[in-house]
Amino acid sequence: MEKPENQLLVIFGASGDLTKRKLIPSLFELFLRRLLPDKFLILGAARSSFTDEEYRLMQKKGIIESQGKRLPEEREVDAFLELVHYFSFDPSDCTQYPRLKERIAGLQLEASLPDNVVYYLATPPLLYKPIAECLKKNQMNKSGGWRRIVVEKPFGTDLKSALQLNNFLRSAFGEKEIYRIDHYMGKETVQNILVLRFSNGIFEPLWNRNYVDRIEISATETLGIENRGKYYESAGALRDMIQNHLMELMAFIAMEPPAMFDPESIRDEITKVFRSLHPAAPHDVIRGQYTEGVAEGENVRGYRSEKDVAAGSVTETYVAMRFFIDNWRWGGVPFYFCTGKRLAEKSSEIVIHFKSTPQHFFTGECTGTSCNQLVIRIQPDEGISLRFGLKVPGAGFEVKQVSMDFRYDSLSGDTLPDAYERLLLDVMLGDSTLYSRSDALVASWEFIDPLLREWESAAKRNLFFYSAGSEGPEEGLALLQKTEECCGKCGEASAVNDHDEVFSE
Ligand code: BG6
Repeated sequence: MEKPENQLLVIFGASGDLTKRKLIPSLFELFLRRLLPDKFLILGAARSSFTDEEYRLMQKKGIIESQGKRLPEEREVDAFLELVHYFSFDPSDCTQYPRLKERIAGLQLEASLPDNVVYYLATPPLLYKPIAECLKKNQMNKSGGWRRIVVEKPFGTDLKSALQLNNFLRSAFGEKEIYRIDHYMGKETVQNILVLRFSNGIFEPLWNRNYVDRIEISATETLGIENRGKYYESAGALRDMIQNHLMELMAFIAMEPPAMFDPESIRDEITKVFRSLHPAAPHDVIRGQYTEGVAEGENVRGYRSEKDVAAGSVTETYVAMRFFIDNWRWGGVPFYFCTGKRLAEKSSEIVIHFKSTPQHFFTGECTGTSCNQLVIRIQPDEGISLRFGLKVPGAGFEVKQVSMDFRYDSLSGDTLPDAYERLLLDVMLGDSTLYSRSDALVASWEFIDPLLREWESAAKRNLFFYSAGSEGPEEGLALLQKTEECCGKCGEASAVNDHDEVFSE
């Protein structure tokens, strides 16, 4: 496998949770797989004061926790941590950047690194602008080698702020140097959608409005908002999950085959999908908010009682929506999104419902609008299932719906790599295929923005409550047509009602 060029990785927000839980453990995995550059250093930068040794100790704990039962060899962890350094400073104060610049140059000299640097912004979004500004002011956005900057989501909170942030980053970095991360794109099973579609001839002829009845994309969680009340109050499920993760999944499912398998051709097709989206009708979007209930066997509080959440908050923790794509492939095929916190199950999956036969001959045969489903399970139990009817052995022609299952772990004895592992490796390699491009980002906000405006003017519209640990609000289930087809259970159903009955106007 190709190895990245020698380089330095600077992580802003290095004392935070993302760095400890995801970035450093993923870099450690890359180290174990011998995929890091031959010469490589990590410089964590944040406000808190640590010595290199203290910082390494803190990260060591993170690495060990992330490995679960697979205890890593201590000497491997220690060898990896030799690569890690720490720099304490205030990232919002441009006068402190010359010190950072000096530290970077010092490390580069010490390890004979070329002037190739990745800046990873794992900070609260408020700091993206000041950091980019300070890097520019101190000429740290240019180099003898190359610079890349990775920006975590949320990338803006609406179309206007996303455009502003974009313009701002573009004033300091070229588009090809900006990597907008969406960790869903780093998931093996998400990348596999491209391989499933574009390396097999059998799906493409069916992959259109002539054979597909509808498509459901869901990502449900049992967790609540944990300690992220402040962020979540200003985000809600639409911004937190749909504008990025679910829309990217939808783009992989709906896109045309690219002319070539390179980053720009793929990202061109993703952008075309977003630009073809028909504005979602407000009555096709149901919001929900969890109240107290029982999640995973424990009594849990309602959203409004969570820390840093307003007592009368109207922020949605659940969204179910239906929408259409105005193009020749998908015209008239309803797409559904469903996502929520504190639901009955943690599951992300895509279900392609194929149209049924025009006649039904057999006893027990499925008679709904979709009897054949291709289920792509993103997580957990990563895999793919195809559902269809087969004859029950014995006399007569009795039919039963069966499922042909493929489990992803049967392809490799290894555990699947974490999404961040793939994405970090890609940015080090300079491969932006799995990162969002600015035009796609703008097009996705153009789809989401009208809904945000709508809810601003009528904050309580279509906001329904559901008990923590349930399947979500009934209104959402009605939109998704049938309880057992909603939110993580999409693949388990065999027949459905006609969606037009639910929404005849
Ligand atoms: C994050 C959201 O982007 O994705 C979280 O901010 C959410 O609210 C998480 O919990 C879900 O990711 P995953 O990989 O667990 O499905």
